[in-house]
Amino acid sequence: MKCKKCGGKASVNMRQHKLALCKEHYLDWVPEQTERFIKKYEMFTRDEKILVAVSGGKDSLALWDILHRLGYHADGLYLGLGIDGGIGYSHESQRLTEKFAHERDLKLHIVDIETEYGQPIPVLSEISHRGHGKPCAVCGLAKRHEMNRIARDLGYDVLATGHNLDDEAAVLFGNTLSWSSEYLLRQGPVLPASDGLARKVKPLCRFYEREMTAYSLVRGIEYIYEECPFAEGSQSIYYKELLNQLETARPGAKLTFYLRFLEARKRGDLFIEKDLERAHLRSCPKCGQPTSTGDLCSFCRMIEKATSAQAA
Ligand code: AMP
Ligand code: FES
Ligand code: ZN
Ligand code: ZN
Repeated sequence: MKCKKCGGKASVNMRQHKLALCKEHYLDWVPEQTERFIKKYEMFTRDEKILVAVSGGKDSLALWDILHRLGYHADGLYLGLGIDGGIGYSHESQRLTEKFAHERDLKLHIVDIETEYGQPIPVLSEISHRGHGKPCAVCGLAKRHEMNRIARDLGYDVLATGHNLDDEAAVLFGNTLSWSSEYLLRQGPVLPASDGLARKVKPLCRFYEREMTAYSLVRGIEYIYEECPFAEGSQSIYYKELLNQLETARPGAKLTFYLRFLEARKRGDLFIEKDLERAHLRSCPKCGQPTSTGDLCSFCRMIEKATSAQAA
């Protein structure tokens, strides 16, 4: 297999794009494509301040690396979740994130959930009785809430996450199976700013997971290989496996599934479009973030429940 650009030995073969590249040209191709997506979906400009949510995993570290290489003003945010899982998961992912930032002289904000709210995620989950014994629901809620809060408090224009195509296709698949129209409407490469929340973007949403693994390896980025220990057996992993089976039989199916969805939504072809007006939001009296309940948002309710359970 030969590199399409230089004819040298190809290292990365992407059947879905009918494209093979050598290491050097692959390291050029990924940022070029990212820049194309940033422009196409109008994610941000070089004048804006970007906060990249970095977990210590390959996708978000690669994203930070790419934005830095492209000359964007991008600082990092690491959330300490306090997850051990027998492998020191949070500890190790924080160490790798700090090392990455230090080696490149990049600015990293670290916010620890236990310091902010008195308990790490697994304990908050247990004492607030949410999520059926698994901390993932509380964790997702807390990550969203804290990313939004910190981007707003620190005056960033944009919040960027490392979600890749496999993540997005799995979420889309789940939302389609249940026709969750509100979620379908909000899913996409860009979620515009609203109600004091920064714009949210996913610059890697068109890259296959294996493309990001290849980028991180070729680029020599040290990242945490382990998944979160609580992710095992999750629905999203199951959907990813299903979509991978489909992809093996039909290369490109995953990308087509996601892109056709975005096109249909843009044309206004989705019958769910009218739900947009229905979902009007108020702001949480405690933290100011949007909520549909008219009372405390679900994060503040969770913290309140956890606090009162502890006091009792
Ligand atoms: P996940 O929900 O774990 O699949 O992660 C999706 C994206 O959320 C990652 O690509 C990161 O951008 C961000 N993220 C996940 N965990 C953290 C964390 N502990 N701190 C900061 N950002 C995170
Ligand atoms: Fe949050 Fe696994 S429970 S990352
Ligand atoms: Zn080449
Ligand atoms: Zn709130």
